Amino acid sequence: MAGLRDRTIVVTGGARGIGLAICEAARAGGARVAVVDIDGSAAAGTATRLGPRCRGYALDVCDAAGFTELLESVEHDLGPVDVLVNNAGIAEASARIGEQSRKMIDRMIDVNLRGTINGTLCALARMERRGSGQIVNIASQAGRLGVPALAAYTASKFGVVGFTDAVRFEYRESGVRFTCVMPGPARTQMMDGTRRVPLVRLVTPQAVAAEVIAAIEHRREEVFVPRSSGYLVRFSGLLPPRWRERLIRFFGLEKVYSQTDPVTRAGYADRVERQTRMR
Ligand SMILES: NC(=O)c1ccc[n+]([C@@H]2O[C@H](COP(=O)([O-])OP(=O)(O)OC[C@H]3O[C@@H](n4cnc5c(N)ncnc54)[C@H](O)[C@@H]3O)[C@@H](O)[C@H]2O)c1
Repeated sequence: MAGLRDRTIVVTGGARGIGLAICEAARAGGARVAVVDIDGSAAAGTATRLGPRCRGYALDVCDAAGFTELLESVEHDLGPVDVLVNNAGIAEASARIGEQSRKMIDRMIDVNLRGTINGTLCALARMERRGSGQIVNIASQAGRLGVPALAAYTASKFGVVGFTDAVRFEYRESGVRFTCVMPGPARTQMMDGTRRVPLVRLVTPQAVAAEVIAAIEHRREEVFVPRSSGYLVRFSGLLPPRWRERLIRFFGLEKVYSQTDPVTRAGYADRVERQTRMR
């Protein structure tokens, strides 16, 4: 797939943050964009702002049957799906996993991992029949590095990274491509109220979106944002656990999610809670 002009791209969690930036970048590249979000009115508003050949759809990515219906609607409205970006995700922090509610732990695994698997299965069936297409899974650097205070989130993202690796191998000859994107902390509502430390810089959603578009255009299979962080994350995987913990402390990463400010995080926490109750 040379570029995105006249291609149909579906972006889950497309109403805000990184998903929104991907929708905007894809639209700028001439794609037809399906903005998919659990917040259907925000998705519709985003699609209207993006302009013609863009549509908004309401979907909870945990709903496997709903995902199939969604892709049918997109095909009917915009044409066959060329690219699916499994971006929808949630992150709730808690200094220790034992302090987090079971409901929130389950919901993180459901949205981040099961949602990605749902989307992949639904799109793969269609793409395999046509012998082309690309599935882009937005994981995280927490998919390669155990981040303290984000244990459940980390588990879900390790799952996304491993799942993408395995299906890429299984479908190597199918014509369907798989990309795993691993951003570092990004400037979205998901980071509201987390502690800022000098050595952990936030990337912009636009920087992540630019890498996603480049990965589609250049058929990249594994992308770190920023790119330079990939060396450090890969290196950390070679270290024994205590040395990895030292590295995390050196960067101050253990403070980022364990010392959150509940007042500034309230907006994000309330939204996730509300969206969880919508099930
Ligand atoms: N922000 C970061 O620091 C960061 C870093 C690495 C990876 N990521 C990943 O990037 C992705 C996007 O995160 P973001 O920072 O833009 O978050 P965000 O909270 O700004 O936006 C997420 C969007 O997903 C939607 N959503 C949530 N649950 C959904 C569901 N069940 N079904 C459909 N839509 C749902 C929300 O309504 C929201 O519009 C996530 O997968 C996240 O894990 C984020």
